[in-house]
Amino acid sequence: MKRVYNFSAGPAVLPLSVLERARDEMIDYRGSGMSVMEMSHRSKDYMAIIEAAEAGLRELMGIDEAYAVLFLQGGASLQFSMIPMNLITDPATQSADYVMTGSWSEKAYSEAKKIFADVRVAASSKNVNYSRIPTQEELTLNPNAAYVHITSNNTIFGTEYPYLPDTGAVPLVADASSNILSRPVDVAKYGMIYAGAQKNLGPSGVTVVIVRKELLGRKANLPSMLDYQALAKEGSMLNTPPTYAIYILGLVLDWVKEQGGVAEMEQRNIRKAGKLYAAIDASGFYLCPTEPVSRSRMNVPFTLAKPELTDAFLAGAKAAGLVTLKGHRSVGGMRASIYNAMPEAGIDALIAFMQEFERTNG
Ligand SMILES: Cc1ncc(COP(=O)(O)O)c(C=O)c1O
Repeated sequence: MKRVYNFSAGPAVLPLSVLERARDEMIDYRGSGMSVMEMSHRSKDYMAIIEAAEAGLRELMGIDEAYAVLFLQGGASLQFSMIPMNLITDPATQSADYVMTGSWSEKAYSEAKKIFADVRVAASSKNVNYSRIPTQEELTLNPNAAYVHITSNNTIFGTEYPYLPDTGAVPLVADASSNILSRPVDVAKYGMIYAGAQKNLGPSGVTVVIVRKELLGRKANLPSMLDYQALAKEGSMLNTPPTYAIYILGLVLDWVKEQGGVAEMEQRNIRKAGKLYAAIDASGFYLCPTEPVSRSRMNVPFTLAKPELTDAFLAGAKAAGLVTLKGHRSVGGMRASIYNAMPEAGIDALIAFMQEFERTNG
């Protein structure tokens, strides 16, 4: 068996022990005589899987009964439309505020605009190619907004909120696709948190929505599949849920718990990201485009002082078993996505390769 260090932004590396357990349970799930893929979503065995996944997430993140936890399809991208549909209750008097910190914020904003034209930009760092997160003082918030939308970690640009925005009485809605479970969060401070699973939670195909129940059911006549209230009422089973993806997500949650929970993930992520940024900053050969205080612990972009060597860097890294390091076209260079499941040894191997490449090409 050959495993590489996979720095993909998503779908991304999963813990090896999760894959091994899924392999062992693939054909005969715990004596049921069938694969999880073959089970009715309403069977006793499957109900136990989805209930354990919800309970596991509630425990790890400290989510109380004031919040619904949903497992949906359509990716984080469908949430860009469902959020304004469900949360802007009176478009004549209400707007929503969007903080623009990268491509995913832009997409969230432009999808919201298709639902209601009057959505506002509360702040943006586009003028500096999204290399920093606007500060609290820079947010121009509308106290009558239905919600404030942020992207808590910007997968492409490699920035992350170093603070929790204070939105007063207006519910805060966070796209946490690329940093959920990477650090403790106080869920009670949010109206809603959502995340596509394919970075820190599991495989693609399932999207987690954590939403304060009092925000639900305020809008009549939404299509059922787009209505949080209707989905919550049926325990995410208004139709057939993505059963296998939820099963793997449950295994990932078990793994996080075994490792010591979200607080332990945070300690590891501080160490892993800290090492990588320190290696970049210590060299004039590698450059990091992001403002230090806004740097992401999950996605680390870096470029070469000699950009003509980028292809050689990527080819050499691949030969050394360090793959999917090519940066997004809007930033260029490289991007190392170092989610929870990336072992520290992967960071050490990357740093060793970077130092060797600098020694031979610097
Ligand atoms: C921050 C963020 N939001 C949204 C998305 C889109 O997610 P999906 O592909 O699940 O729709 C991504 C995907 O990479 C992302 O990184």
